[in-house]
Amino acid sequence: MFGFVKLLFKYRLAFILIIIAVLVKLYQKDVVQLLQIAATRYLNLAANKQTDSVSVQFTDTRGNLYTPEQLATYNGENGAAIYLSLLGAVFDVSRGLKHYGPGCSYNYFVGRDASVSFVSGEFEHYDPKTADDVLSLKPSDLIELAKWQQFYEKEYTYKGKLIGRFYDKEGKSTVYHQKYLALLDQAQIAKAQVDELRNRYPGCNIEWSEAKGTRVWCTTTSGDGKKRDWPGYPRKLYDRDNKNFHCACVPEAELNDPMFKSYENCAFRSEECFYRV
Ligand code: HEM
Repeated sequence: MFGFVKLLFKYRLAFILIIIAVLVKLYQKDVVQLLQIAATRYLNLAANKQTDSVSVQFTDTRGNLYTPEQLATYNGENGAAIYLSLLGAVFDVSRGLKHYGPGCSYNYFVGRDASVSFVSGEFEHYDPKTADDVLSLKPSDLIELAKWQQFYEKEYTYKGKLIGRFYDKEGKSTVYHQKYLALLDQAQIAKAQVDELRNRYPGCNIEWSEAKGTRVWCTTTSGDGKKRDWPGYPRKLYDRDNKNFHCACVPEAELNDPMFKSYENCAFRSEECFYRV
């Protein structure tokens, strides 16, 4: 025992290092977290020192947080950078000066979040209360917005988050944002189902004449233009809301599926049908 204590004194530095190594291994996760917090604090301090006019707050390593007022200063005027926000995600679009610069076609989007206008095409009357309120948009619009977001992520530089509807002061996703994501998910699932149906039951050929009204008929290339070995029979296939339908070419074996409705005044195996709206 005495010998061990003697050894401990002799090689105390080596023992301390071994103990530290064991502790670091045991608490690896916490150590990494501590280092991250220290780095974030350091970046915060550095940012506050460097920028007086626009104070940038670093809350995580994936980007900065912007207040609407800060974002508005990135308007391309007097050489300023050009930023826009889509669904609360801020992008530097300075590279697209010819689209977004002062006086250019899409300058409306600059320095703010006007997500709704990406699908409404309204570029004149900006109302901050509604400009980024996307929850009441149609499912297809939500998908369109998600595509725009992918476009900006691919083509421009992601800068961070806008404090507001989609992100809170700490940069955390808001309940509103979560609702949007859930609706987008639903919209994408519904679209995948529709796409799958359209793939299985290709569309009909369609033509209109004053004398006969609308004529629908199937051929082995109708719908997507790809050749198949069955032409099918024209049937009405209704959307999920049961209001609108389109003409689908249905193979013989599935003609009795209740999902398909026959055209009025059209024989069960007729290759073409006529109707008026
Ligand atoms: C909802 C309606 C619309 C929206 C939200 C919209 C939005 C945009 C945006 C954001 C850009 C810039 C893309 C980039 O950063 O590279 C753009 C480019 C462009 N848009 Fe539109 N646009 C709309 C409708 C239209 C219409 C109706 C036309 C034609 C009549 C049109 C023609 C163009 C053209 C020619 C470009 C430039 C393409 C290029 O130079 O690469 N846009 N649009």
